Amino acid sequence: LLSIIIPTFNERQNVPVMIERIDQTLLGSVPYEILFVDDSTDDTPCVLAEMARKNPRVRFFHRMGERGLATAVMRGFAEARGEVLAVMDADLQHPPELLPQMFQAIEQGYDLVIPSRFVPGGDDGGLSPMRKLVSFGARMIGRTCLTKVRPCTDPTGGFFMLRRTVIENVELHPLGWKILMEILVRGRYKQMVEIPYRFQRRLGDRSKMSLREQIQYIRHVGRLMKASPEDWRFFKFLLVGLSGVGVNLVVFTFLFHMLGQRELTAATVAATVSMFSNFLLHDRFTWRGMGRGIQWIRLIKYGLVSSLGLMIQVGIICISLEWWGWHSLMANLAGIAGGTLWNYIANNRWTWSAQEWAVPAKMRKS
Ligand code: GDD
Ligand code: MN
Repeated sequence: LLSIIIPTFNERQNVPVMIERIDQTLLGSVPYEILFVDDSTDDTPCVLAEMARKNPRVRFFHRMGERGLATAVMRGFAEARGEVLAVMDADLQHPPELLPQMFQAIEQGYDLVIPSRFVPGGDDGGLSPMRKLVSFGARMIGRTCLTKVRPCTDPTGGFFMLRRTVIENVELHPLGWKILMEILVRGRYKQMVEIPYRFQRRLGDRSKMSLREQIQYIRHVGRLMKASPEDWRFFKFLLVGLSGVGVNLVVFTFLFHMLGQRELTAATVAATVSMFSNFLLHDRFTWRGMGRGIQWIRLIKYGLVSSLGLMIQVGIICISLEWWGWHSLMANLAGIAGGTLWNYIANNRWTWSAQEWAVPAKMRKS
């Protein structure tokens, strides 16, 4: 059985059309139920009650005095009887005609099926230019900060289908609108697949998306990062790096402007001091509790990694300037990105690797 969960907030004109189009697409091929979770303040509940009376496949739940798209979907999960669950909007921006194809993918063995506007064949034409920009920013933030969101090109779309086992006994903490992000990070799935689709223009009045939801989104991403240790560590690494820039500037200004030292001397001392402060912060904060053995050895390893990182950075800058003819600012940014990535990966694997060098016990004695 497929349970189609549809959150509604004041969607009275859209509900009947929605049901009709789902019936047209699925009736006779897939056994299904349609579940509305409604927080409306208008007479949508009356429309829903009427539809549920006429159509045995329709059920609805009205939540009194509650709001929130993600929690509404959670309620739908709790009430659903199906082994397969789908979530979609009520305003036909998510075409119901895609449901059979999504269901097929589940039958083929996929655990999670996500229609995407951003794979070849997809299209997000239903959004205003401003919303497109906001949506782009949101996707970038989510996919940059969260490793598990990265494989998905459209994690903010609000349209997906999954096997119940993906969320069964998984503790979800819905916040704001993006329940799919929560599922991507915390859910239990092996195979995920994306299907291209065209995001339609909204039927009926305006979107209920607001600035409040956009702020909630940032909070949600932060919370999900804390829940995935690797992502959180990388974030701390970047923070420490930023603090190093601050230390560097302060020391440089002090030596050069106030003590009148030579520029090169000031820059060298500033770089060395910031390297030390970065090391100490990484040791106590970024990789807290991960360092084994003597701190001095870690410091030496850190120094080696950083030196190599510097070479990588300069190398990237040279190549992109000389060979590819990039603008110097772009080349610099690419160099910084490459060096930073190297530093993180190498320090993570080597300097603060939880495993000690695996010297077999026999060899250690001789
Ligand atoms: N139960 C309930 N409670 N439903 C709600 C609430 C609420 O507080 N707020 C909104 N909804 C329902 C709407 O009735 C609609 O069915 C669906 O959630 C999406 O709301 P829209 O107002 O249509 O928002 P949108 O079109 O701006 O956003 C949609 O598209 C975005 C893609 O850019 C959503 O799918 C977003 O998740 C998606 O990011
Ligand atoms: Mn919509």
